[in-house]
Amino acid sequence: MPQDPPRYPAPLSPREEIEHAARAFMWLMRIREPRPEVPFLAMPPAVCRLIAQELALGPGDTLIDIGCGDGRTLAAVLDGRGGAGVGLERDVDRAAEARGRGLRVVEGDFESEADLDRLPLDRAAAVLLFLYPWAVELLLPRLVARLPPDARIVSYCFADPRLATGPRQMVDGFAYPGHRVPLYVWTTREVERALRGAADTPG
Ligand SMILES: C[S@@+](CC[C@H](N)C(=O)[O-])C[C@H]1O[C@@H](n2cnc3c(N)ncnc32)[C@H](O)[C@@H]1O
Repeated sequence: MPQDPPRYPAPLSPREEIEHAARAFMWLMRIREPRPEVPFLAMPPAVCRLIAQELALGPGDTLIDIGCGDGRTLAAVLDGRGGAGVGLERDVDRAAEARGRGLRVVEGDFESEADLDRLPLDRAAAVLLFLYPWAVELLLPRLVARLPPDARIVSYCFADPRLATGPRQMVDGFAYPGHRVPLYVWTTREVERALRGAADTPG
């Protein structure tokens, strides 16, 4: 009998809990560095459920996760909705785990325009980002240039400073019990306007 791809959320084992806590600690330690490498850390399951509700994707929709890690977040947001999940990931082991969840994964680097062009961004319904601020800032103009105007861009934790004042909600964080972080959901059009406005503002 073929086995279903493993689903998330699954309870973390004690070892996974410790690994998660260590990565979260490293993440917070490096937050003030100018351009830290983005380590793997997954969004909490409750946040995945909230994003799924917010996006309300259906069959035929494509959801792209830039830096998809092991794919658990992408799989959880799509769970039972019939949409297609595509990830971009540069860590080959994580990419293989994500494929084990039934996702299509492009192995590549989000800093490379050529690798972004390997993703079906022009027909994506939504894009997920859980990256450091420098990476969000780098990617937003590149996403805006490729996505349909009504596509949604969801960023967990961080916004480009040009959009940080925009609408957001506070949701469960990743680091410790009670940690809260912002969740941003923009359309391509909104991001484009904000970036254009910032470019037009003398300063
Ligand atoms: C914080 S994790 C987010 C994982 C997943 N998106 C989630 O929300 O659960 C960031 C992921 O980005 C990947 N990553 C870091 N730098 C990258 C790069 N330049 N190109 C592609 N992936 C990268 C890491 O390997 C890691 O899996």
